[in-house]
Amino acid sequence: MTYDVEKIRQEFPILSRQVNGRPLVYLDNGASAQKPRAVIDAVMQSYTQEYANVHRGLHYLSNLSTERYRSVRGIIARFLNAPDENEIIFTSGATEGLNLVSYGWAAPRLQAGDEIVLSVLEHHANIVPWHFLRERQGVVLKWVEPEADGSLPPEKMLAAVTPRTRLIAVTHMSNVTGTVVDVAAIARGTDVPVLVDGSQASVHMPVDVAALGVDFYAITGHKLYGPSGSGAIWISAERQQEMRPFLGGGDMIRTVTRDAVEYAAPPLRFEAGTPGITNQIGLGAALEFMMDLGMDRIAAHERSLRDYARDRLRSLNWLQVQGDAPDKGAIFSMTMDGAHAHDISTILDKRGIAVRAGTHCAMPLLEFFGASATARASFALYNTHAEVDALIDGLTFCRELFA
Ligand code: ALA
Repeated sequence: MTYDVEKIRQEFPILSRQVNGRPLVYLDNGASAQKPRAVIDAVMQSYTQEYANVHRGLHYLSNLSTERYRSVRGIIARFLNAPDENEIIFTSGATEGLNLVSYGWAAPRLQAGDEIVLSVLEHHANIVPWHFLRERQGVVLKWVEPEADGSLPPEKMLAAVTPRTRLIAVTHMSNVTGTVVDVAAIARGTDVPVLVDGSQASVHMPVDVAALGVDFYAITGHKLYGPSGSGAIWISAERQQEMRPFLGGGDMIRTVTRDAVEYAAPPLRFEAGTPGITNQIGLGAALEFMMDLGMDRIAAHERSLRDYARDRLRSLNWLQVQGDAPDKGAIFSMTMDGAHAHDISTILDKRGIAVRAGTHCAMPLLEFFGASATARASFALYNTHAEVDALIDGLTFCRELFA
């Protein structure tokens, strides 16, 4: 079956709108992706026909809502090839998932002088929770730099492991450069638990947590074409047993008395309070949409966009792509002599082209590249080769203005 991108685009209502009098060219998918009709309809259906709190009532709507919500755990498990759906914990996004590991697994286990190995490619969501442990418990952060082209050989991460290393925290795909990290090779090379930030990789390539051999894998719904406020983290059953609850409240308990509390079994133990019911239902619809298209086919389409964009961007000798590793997703962080990233973004916006400018929640990586900011074009399953051309034309126009 051919990948009919024009037909796929019709599933995303927002893509047919104009911005600044031009057809929208949405290249800010790294920040958040647009939503297909299937997601919008699922959210609408939940709120107009099926909404009530979950796990609470015995009435018709509560049962229906609970059933819809619960079924998403199985969909996420299928999407990630998790061995057991109870290893999927719902979160509001990857940030909550990564903090859950910090508060629930690492904080009670790590002592002063214990080490966490992390890469300079990380998003702040996979940095700041570890700084908390450094500040509060004297945990040592051991940073591993990528190569100049942004690639991160697994051996470099493994070389930083010592007898004091308790955790390796690493992205599967950089949100700034698109660098793909061979997290399976990292996990194979050590007994130290491996926590993976899968916020970008899960959007662009098939993920099989069972095959990766890692311990924790966080995803975020709003980048996966689902609602913001949705997400999950896969945590192996073994690691779940080692965790203490992070947030306390309703739903995560079996009994509460004045003197004691007995916790519910995982995954509910880690899901306190009324969850993002409709957001997660929307995420389920998004993942089914992606799986129906086929993750392999999505990845192949995006590889073709990446190769085309890379060739065209490389031909612009006045433009630098920061971190152009051979194995990368279709994400390009660009700098141009004489033009600030914010200027580039503003000028592109006037032509209907949305890119992100700034430090992309990854200040250590920007510092590594010696850049105060970049303009980032990040592609998705609905982008076209013609949109790459529009980007190149926009950048060329920008260059002419600033030359
Ligand atoms: N993490 C998001 C980005 O890369 C917000 O832009």
